[in-house]
Amino acid sequence: MSHDDHVVHDTDFERVRQNLDGLYGTVAALQNAEIASRIVGTRVLDVGAGAGKLARDLSDQGFQVTAIDIDPRAVAFAREVTGVEVLPRSVYETGFPDRSFDAVVFRESVFHLDFERVLVEVERICGRQVVIFESNSPNPLLRLGRKLIGHEEHDERPPEYYAGALAAHGYVVTGPTYLDACLIPLSGGLLTRPLPLAERASGFLLRLDAAVTGVAARAGLDRTLCWRYLLSGVKAR
Ligand SMILES: C[S@@+](CC[C@H](N)C(=O)[O-])C[C@H]1O[C@@H](n2cnc3c(N)ncnc32)[C@H](O)[C@@H]1O
Repeated sequence: MSHDDHVVHDTDFERVRQNLDGLYGTVAALQNAEIASRIVGTRVLDVGAGAGKLARDLSDQGFQVTAIDIDPRAVAFAREVTGVEVLPRSVYETGFPDRSFDAVVFRESVFHLDFERVLVEVERICGRQVVIFESNSPNPLLRLGRKLIGHEEHDERPPEYYAGALAAHGYVVTGPTYLDACLIPLSGGLLTRPLPLAERASGFLLRLDAAVTGVAARAGLDRTLCWRYLLSGVKAR
């Protein structure tokens, strides 16, 4: 699963393809719309782009997106599935000129990385905005699910860790905003099989998720119940 400082999962790409075509594809598009709504500026770096769905959705909305991924299999898969040209580069040494980007987005990739080390390169190539969309590890059901399927991360931290690291580097942090109280386990997320009948009940499940996520937020239970969160750090140049 890991080589040197890069952590790459043994991905079932056929499962990813099916899930992106199904309910999870709709969920991911909604998540990507939330991410897009937070981005300041137009030049975006998508770090750990995987299948390229975020890069595709942001490009379709008019952002100038550059996508990188350390895994050559993801590069080939993205070209085939989303038509996105992902560059085979590591975020630790991107090779991009100083101040190339307005925003650097980590969509489910920070757990793969040493975030303090990442920030050194991010300060050089951007220094304006960091957006993190990630699994909400304080959710005990999420932790249990990961244990059951044997899913391990390189450096899994709670949202407060990333918010604190960004604040310590001078970013003004917004969030975390918690999302997806039900849809990740039901849709299978990116990597696992959806629950039987979930695809057929997708309209109902999308409405259910919106309602449960709203109630959880109002009850102050979103940090415990939601499966994903979004946070953004911005600083003046
Ligand atoms: C869980 S996948 C997320 C893929 C996609 N962003 C999504 O949300 O579906 C994490 C990705 O980070 C990539 N990754 C891991 N270490 C990296 C590094 N040092 N530089 C760039 N990408 C990296 C992995 O290869 C993998 O494709």
